[in-house]
Amino acid sequence: MGEAAYPRCVRTRVTELFGIEYPIFAFSHCRDVVAAVSRAGGLGVLGALYFTPEELEVELSWIDEHVGGRPYGVDVVMPAKYEGADLGDAEELLSRLQGMIPAEHRRFLDDLLAEHGVEPSTETAGRALLGWTDQTARPQVEVALKHPIALLANALGPPPADVVALAHEHGVTMAGLASSARHARKQVDVGVDVIVAQGTEAGGHTGEISTMVLIPEVVDEVGSEAVVLAAGGIGRGRQMAAGLALGAEGVWTGSIWLTVEEADTPERALPKLLAATSRDTVRSRAWTGKPARFLKTAWTEAWESDKSPGYLPMPMQFMLIADALPRIARSGDGELVTFPVGQIVGSMNRVRPASQVVYDLIGEYVDAVERLGRIIEE
Ligand SMILES: Cc1cc2nc3c(=O)[nH]c(=O)nc-3n(C[C@H](O)[C@H](O)[C@H](O)COP(=O)(O)O)c2cc1C
Repeated sequence: MGEAAYPRCVRTRVTELFGIEYPIFAFSHCRDVVAAVSRAGGLGVLGALYFTPEELEVELSWIDEHVGGRPYGVDVVMPAKYEGADLGDAEELLSRLQGMIPAEHRRFLDDLLAEHGVEPSTETAGRALLGWTDQTARPQVEVALKHPIALLANALGPPPADVVALAHEHGVTMAGLASSARHARKQVDVGVDVIVAQGTEAGGHTGEISTMVLIPEVVDEVGSEAVVLAAGGIGRGRQMAAGLALGAEGVWTGSIWLTVEEADTPERALPKLLAATSRDTVRSRAWTGKPARFLKTAWTEAWESDKSPGYLPMPMQFMLIADALPRIARSGDGELVTFPVGQIVGSMNRVRPASQVVYDLIGEYVDAVERLGRIIEE
């Protein structure tokens, strides 16, 4: 199907809500991807996690200039539960948690890095806490709401009620990721408007229920009160059609944007992603302390091995490893290099522009829906 033949729009409640052509949401930490997907008729959502508030301001100003007036969103991570949630101040939290990281874990990590020839540390990570605490994510929310964002999303549990109220005051739609119908109910009860029902196939933090089973359960639980998007394992138009057939109003995707032309995926991770099959991921606590899906490599295997001291709770596991990640990315034998990605990685075999990924999704979606229509007629 040539570009001229693509339908001008695929209309659902969610395209009406955001004024977009296609019900395709693209989560990415890369501003170029976010702007490109929104310009192509979907809705790009920038993951704020890895940015300081000052950096986030720069990224969002750039998007404002490059998104051509199209809507886009921002995603923060305010977990409902984490170590140190009772401490008010980010600096106090950081130093308290640093002191709680056991020497045994530091030793295990140092030995693992040495075994794989990774260069030794020269500095301690100053920003290892990242955005995944209430204390560090709130300043990101403040920055985000100063920009013309259409959507604010939160991962890892219902967002605090005052954050939902603040988003609504700014005319911003609030979204939340949920991996069970019970979690979706909790989100809707605090006022979340859009539920991203994310199956276990997904890259990043993920639950245990497959997308196929989860979506109808979530739609039946909250579909009359909130808009439901299907997420986890969606990278083809047939999967998009399946998501809509299961009752979702659109699809929320993450992994497939890691291999687009615009992506800033680390150089040593990209070939691994392109070569991986759908069997090459694992759900592991080895990155953040909470279960997340990654490429299975020597890193995930080592943390699962007999020698492993076990995982630290969020956010301490990432604090432990944050300083090592850039060194793993640039030195050593490369075997430890991993990346959050979902099972759809098996279909991510070539690099395309983000806009082409959007058009290919729509093209195959149309073919799938037409095929189903013909089956009924015949
Ligand atoms: C590299 C990567 C990082 C992610 N980081 C976040 C995050 O910070 N916040 C969030 O809400 N979701 C995050 N996710 C999950 C996505 O928002 C999305 O739900 C998921 O990728 C959908 O499944 P898929 O990977 O099969 O497309 C991440 C996913 C990937 C692949």
